[in-house]
Amino acid sequence: MDYIINGGMRLRGEIADYGAKNCALALLGATVLTDEQIVLRNCPSIVDVENMLLLLSAMGKRINRRGNTVSVSGGLNTTSAPRSLANLLRGSALILGSTVARYHKICLPLPGGCAIGARPMDIHLKGLEALGIAVDENTDELVCQGKPIGAPYNLRFASVGATENLLCACALAKGESVLTNCATEPEVTALEELLVKMGAKLYGVGTSTVRLVGVDKLHGAEFDVIPDRIVAATYIAATVATLGDVTVTNCNPLHMQAFLDVLSPHVYIKQYSDAIHVVADKSPNGYGKIVTAPYPLFPTDMQSLVLTLAACSSGDTEIREKLFENRLLHNAEQLNKMGAHIAVNDDVATVEGSKLHGESVASNDLRGGAGLVIAALNAEGVSTVSGIEHINRGYVRLAQNLCSLGADITVSP
Ligand code: EPZ
Repeated sequence: MDYIINGGMRLRGEIADYGAKNCALALLGATVLTDEQIVLRNCPSIVDVENMLLLLSAMGKRINRRGNTVSVSGGLNTTSAPRSLANLLRGSALILGSTVARYHKICLPLPGGCAIGARPMDIHLKGLEALGIAVDENTDELVCQGKPIGAPYNLRFASVGATENLLCACALAKGESVLTNCATEPEVTALEELLVKMGAKLYGVGTSTVRLVGVDKLHGAEFDVIPDRIVAATYIAATVATLGDVTVTNCNPLHMQAFLDVLSPHVYIKQYSDAIHVVADKSPNGYGKIVTAPYPLFPTDMQSLVLTLAACSSGDTEIREKLFENRLLHNAEQLNKMGAHIAVNDDVATVEGSKLHGESVASNDLRGGAGLVIAALNAEGVSTVSGIEHINRGYVRLAQNLCSLGADITVSP
């Protein structure tokens, strides 16, 4: 499926953000910790979330979706994740910690690498071993056995997924655990808040050192999925790229300060408690040096958005992608086809802003695809962006939402 985009339309108006994919996936993983009902409100209906629900349902959980409210209850009738479903999304790895904690075993097909990088799981697995779990990793499947026993564990890198899996494993472990160098992304903090609501004895919510005293049982809870900071950033980047005037509502500006700090010297930004108003009346003259890093620094998931903004700016920018080894080159090559001047050397992109023209470009990952759509909105003339199935994994009706702001996008099968 492709987007046909006629560039040059200034985006104007108001658009609502919605629940964060990466929060919903982590919270859905935690539902395995109890048979009682977990109700998640503001849970987006996007491909990755629906596939995670399919996976949980195939393993025995009862699922009910009414609009953006999802209820999950019941127990697993198997601890072997079906390969066909587990391979649909990397987020399937987020049932690892909760399943081991509750059922003391799991057989999980390894999600493997993807377009953005190898994405190993050593931090997850060493953490489980620190809790006394036997880990057997063969070529394409992971088998873990054992009841977790509380222990200290320092994550060598503040991995989001590893933190989420280990929080779940420690919540039901026997005794006390202290996890240090934890990720502190808002989606991780949301998981910690849900675990506390479920009865976990968890201390240090939102910090890099989390102490848990294992309990025998966790109970049901209700929780609001937090707004998607990457979707909000996508709308804001599209506004800047088209010199528009847009207010993004139902979002949380506090979760995206590093991104807003990059833009604020160049465009008008007004932050409210749950909205951001952006007005861009001239092309920014480059964005200086940007380095991706764990929260609260500049997020890797917003790197492709700012690579596009740099490409169509009127000055120089240097972007260093330190988290994922393959998250720069593909989009740089596609943007250069559109007239961008981007040189990539190892993990650094040096960008000299220029005028972009319409082209046929291909997206090969979720956030990269969004970056190419934004480039097409800026470019002079018509572009075709293929690989939209990647975009649908993490965005709700991206084309329709952008068209509601004045973009000219048609979808071709
Ligand atoms: C989560 O992935 C997000 N996915 C990613 O978003 C996001 O880019 C990433 O965090 C970083 O913020 C979900 O939440 C479902 P990591 P995750 O473990 O948990 C290395 C999107 O577009 N690493 O924090 O897989 C890893 O290779 C997606 O929504 C190890 O070496 O990310 C990478 O270089 C893309 N060993 C770095 O850490 C491990 O055991 C960050 O990975 C784990 C990770």
